[in-house]
Amino acid sequence: MSHELLQDTVREHLLLHFTNHAVAYQPDQEVLVLERGEGPYVFDTRGRRYIDALSSLFCAQLGYSYGEEMTSAIAAQMQRLPFNTNWATAHPPAIELADALAERFPGHLNHFFFTGGGSDSVEAMWKIAREYFVAIGQPQRLKAIARRNAYHGVTLGALSFTGVPGFKEIFGPPAIDVTHVSNTNAFRAPDGDDPAAFCARLLAEVRETIDRVGRDEVAVIIAEPVQNAGGCLVPPPGYWAGLREIADETGALLVADEVICGFGRLGEWLGVMREGVVPDMATTAKGLTSAYVPMGAVAVSDRIAETIHTAGNPLRHGITFGGHPVAAAVALRNLEIFERDGVLENVRANEGYLEERLKELRSLPIVGDTRGRGYFWAMELVRDAGNATFDKPERDRMLRGYLPKRLLEAGLIARCDDRGDSVLQIAPPLIADRALLDEIVERLGEVLADTGAYMGVGV
Ligand SMILES: Cc1ncc(COP(=O)(O)O)c(C=O)c1O
Repeated sequence: MSHELLQDTVREHLLLHFTNHAVAYQPDQEVLVLERGEGPYVFDTRGRRYIDALSSLFCAQLGYSYGEEMTSAIAAQMQRLPFNTNWATAHPPAIELADALAERFPGHLNHFFFTGGGSDSVEAMWKIAREYFVAIGQPQRLKAIARRNAYHGVTLGALSFTGVPGFKEIFGPPAIDVTHVSNTNAFRAPDGDDPAAFCARLLAEVRETIDRVGRDEVAVIIAEPVQNAGGCLVPPPGYWAGLREIADETGALLVADEVICGFGRLGEWLGVMREGVVPDMATTAKGLTSAYVPMGAVAVSDRIAETIHTAGNPLRHGITFGGHPVAAAVALRNLEIFERDGVLENVRANEGYLEERLKELRSLPIVGDTRGRGYFWAMELVRDAGNATFDKPERDRMLRGYLPKRLLEAGLIARCDDRGDSVLQIAPPLIADRALLDEIVERLGEVLADTGAYMGVGV
């Protein structure tokens, strides 16, 4: 189809996820249709090139030029065994992938349940947690703790953990009884500049919440190592160790949602490895295959898996395509490429550089804060020198009107978000070198300077 025909046909037949179609499908609007990728770049159907500074929604860890290598893994598997399930049977790619992940993930995270994506992993995690508690004679543990504004997926179970009210309310009462506690947004916290006090207060809130909802009724505490929604909310030192302690004290399971933070986004196989803490389960997807094909995985501790193994009940959860052999073959190749090409090392080597370069943007009046880790960063956009927030009409004008267009004009894909306060986020492919990071920061600088002028900030 030509560019023009694609623009017509998208309106006629395609429902875009999380999109206001009344706006996106206005006759004067163009849908961004990307048709090709190369290295860290993507190209639209007009041939315009963009730096994909968001890695296609935190997925394309390797960028877009490993197609040939991935194709050879896919072709070999397609010719040998294109499909079989992990329902009671197994196949070599799933077994080998589970083994490869066990080798790389920390501590006792040695067992894997494969899924089709992130929400799917969160759902599976909850079912496995429930199987575990039923097996150890604690079936009353039906509650969970998650954090405000956190995004853990949209299927009806996973949506219960998601702490963004606007994404949930119309769908009725949540399937799981989840209480949301404060997240780790230090920027606007009264004690945010005192990490020890901030951490102590957050952990006290988790403890008090568990006591209030019922110490022996909480099955799961779930958190991302660095929370995406709200803008790359980094935990204060000791926070994860504190969560580990609380989980151990109360008998709840600690779950790291690594759908974004895993597979190198923070420079480690799992983001939580930077905290020196081993969770009881980790939910993953996106970077597991660098998104060359869809796949997710739940990492499960020895203790949970062994309990389930010996309980005598079947694991009452299964997904036809979970552990698809072609996807598993791609994931295995992805791990090989990460190691051969030093992908984790690249992130570690450049993290500090990126941090310093982004800090330069704070000289712009509209940039109140820059925060993040690894290749996962947010700039918080503010109204004035006192860091006042933008009101709803201003956010609409800026984050859904001006900025997305201006970013594309600058040849940059980044994310404008206001599930918490207003942020612009980047998550470049993990293969990005310093020259590309410089280019991203320079383009961000130009775009944000213009956005400040457009919004009348600092005048
Ligand atoms: C932390 C986290 N958990 C779960 C999900 C859900 O993943 P998916 O969109 O693959 O269902 C996401 C999606 O972005 C996520 O960021």
